Amino acid sequence: MENTNKRNSFGGTLGFVLAAAGSAVGLGNIWRFPYLAAKDGGGLFIFVYLILALTFGFTLLTTEIAIGRKTKQGPLTAYGKIKKGWGFLGPIATIVPFLIMPYYCVIGGWVLKYLVGFVSGGGAAMAGEGYFGAFISGGLMGGIWQPVIFFVIFLLMCAFVVIRGVNKGIESMSKIIMPVLLVLVIGIAIFSLTISHTTTNEAGEQITRTGLQGMAKYLIPDFSTITLKQLFVTVMDAMGQLFYSLSVAMGIMVAYGSYVKDDANLAKSINQIEIFDTVVAFLAGAMIIPAVYAISGPENMNAGPGLMFMTLPQVFMQMGIAGHIIGALFFIMVLFAALTSAISILEAVVASLMDKFGMKRTTAALAETGIALVLGIIVCFGYNLLMFDIKLPNGSEAQILDIMDYVSNQILMPILAIGTCILIGWVAKPKYAIDEVTKNGERFGRKGLYNVMIKFVAPALLFVLFIQALGVNFF
Ligand code: ALA
Repeated sequence: MENTNKRNSFGGTLGFVLAAAGSAVGLGNIWRFPYLAAKDGGGLFIFVYLILALTFGFTLLTTEIAIGRKTKQGPLTAYGKIKKGWGFLGPIATIVPFLIMPYYCVIGGWVLKYLVGFVSGGGAAMAGEGYFGAFISGGLMGGIWQPVIFFVIFLLMCAFVVIRGVNKGIESMSKIIMPVLLVLVIGIAIFSLTISHTTTNEAGEQITRTGLQGMAKYLIPDFSTITLKQLFVTVMDAMGQLFYSLSVAMGIMVAYGSYVKDDANLAKSINQIEIFDTVVAFLAGAMIIPAVYAISGPENMNAGPGLMFMTLPQVFMQMGIAGHIIGALFFIMVLFAALTSAISILEAVVASLMDKFGMKRTTAALAETGIALVLGIIVCFGYNLLMFDIKLPNGSEAQILDIMDYVSNQILMPILAIGTCILIGWVAKPKYAIDEVTKNGERFGRKGLYNVMIKFVAPALLFVLFIQALGVNFF
């Protein structure tokens, strides 16, 4: 059934760029980028990431936004409009955001909890050993319902914005939030660089570590110790991260592209979105790594997933009074980043429901919110009532959240992206996307690169990423 509702659209190019950048800048940038950068040797990871962003990331982002604007359809129906027989990519592009939405909002709820904690002066308790574990497993006041309540509040905030529509909800919100977010990230990063912390080492000597030294660790690659295996792992990590960070292969950029006016300059907008996303990821590292290095020590720089909810609160508390303020500002900033991304994930599903079934925006948004509510509660219970002993193919222990992340992020997203590359690279041909981007006579600088990437390099890299996710060890 064709949708007969009038299609929403972004009021202007700036609104589109900020909304898409809002989608891209999310938990991935602030929580995952810094810890991957620290794990994979700082400068090397950043270098590889930048090259991939300018080639691989640019190709996927361009393709999805072009598909959206050309078809004027949400992800569920867009692919079938490009070529008959390729409609099967639509359900995959809708299942991905459908699966991500519940667990993303659960993490959004954790961020909200930490924000409320820091604002109400509870930072010291949050920095305590075992606090985070107690919170998610239901050991704090309210028991297993406390994480659920924060999750539900976060989810309802997203639903409220999406129900208001693309222009009045998503665009208006992004125009306020994204500039504030940028100022906060820059401000906290500068503060991090000024930190100097004196502590006593195991030999009883006083040592002073500074944020600037931490920044050097973050930026300067140590080529002397690089092995082929490490390079391979870094490329795979950077590619997986880039994917998630740019919100590609999640149906989102197709949905957002479908709301862009025909006279907007897509090539320029895509560059701006990429720059915004990469700069914020880089700054998130500049904000977190120097502070953790100076205060907590180099051994904690790659603390992994616990970095945001365990290591950082401890770092903030070591800063004295300033730490309460910096902690609160940090979690406001993360909340903003998570909200604009979660909203885009919800919108991808809502756009699909509206375009496929002709549903009204409010009905579609409420339906998807209801399902995300149930699934999200199950995710929350994954840390208490529904805890199972499950391992992922890479051997790491997994709860329901990790399983949903694994299926969406590591299995379905590469499959969708490979399918999209084959569809546009070989079936519809790259001209399909290039013509859309240049339809008002705009210059499309990396046309040759785009052709090679979409046909050969991107699908090949994605295939390796996918095989690796299945547990195949290349080294
Ligand atoms: N792109 C979003 C993020 O980085 C989903 O979290």
